[in-house]
Amino acid sequence: MRVLIAYASAHGSTEEIAARVGMVLRQNGLDADVVPAEEAPELEGYDAFVIGSAIHNSSWLTPAERFVTRKAPSFAGRPVWLFSVATVGASSSGLGAFGTWMARKAGRLPKDLPALIARTGAQGHRTFAGVIRRDDWGRVGDLFVRLMGGRYGDHRDWHDIEHWATTIATALTARSAAARVQG
Ligand SMILES: Cc1cc2nc3c(=O)[nH]c(=O)nc-3n(C[C@H](O)[C@H](O)[C@H](O)COP(=O)(O)O)c2cc1C
Repeated sequence: MRVLIAYASAHGSTEEIAARVGMVLRQNGLDADVVPAEEAPELEGYDAFVIGSAIHNSSWLTPAERFVTRKAPSFAGRPVWLFSVATVGASSSGLGAFGTWMARKAGRLPKDLPALIARTGAQGHRTFAGVIRRDDWGRVGDLFVRLMGGRYGDHRDWHDIEHWATTIATALTARSAAARVQG
């Protein structure tokens, strides 16, 4: 089974998560190509897709959004998983307890997740915390980070990322086995 992992990353933390997902899929016997969304090849040769983006201003980056919109017809009948990389993830966070609670209560990111799911028919979406850099946030952002008890640095939970990737590998291996039995 061949899987395309397409990502959009402004400063590299999403790219590294995409690479780790690819590594886990390969360790589980799948073929995996990891490419920036804007450089994605034709999709015909792929059996499944993992698409991820950094979150900026509550949305996916343009290359990932564009990839999903342009390729929407190609996803039909092939499994897709989505991931987002933000300040607050499902299992770790760059903010303190109150900020994390507030961010999770404010709603799911990206804000157009329902449209992304509709276009891809995605089986699932997971949000990971990324790397929070002081330089990225400016003065007002810095104040926000402080008020929310945030800490600059790398907040990625590699255990959660690898676990998520393993669940994808398991689902695809089962799918492949079922197809062999039917065929
Ligand atoms: C300009 C800018 C806007 C951001 N906007 C958000 C946001 O709206 N919500 C959020 O949770 N994180 C936001 N972040 C944090 C990023 O999602 C986080 O730093 C992520 O790790 C970036 O991934 P990358 O290193 O692949 O670019 C923003 C970061 C930058 C630089």
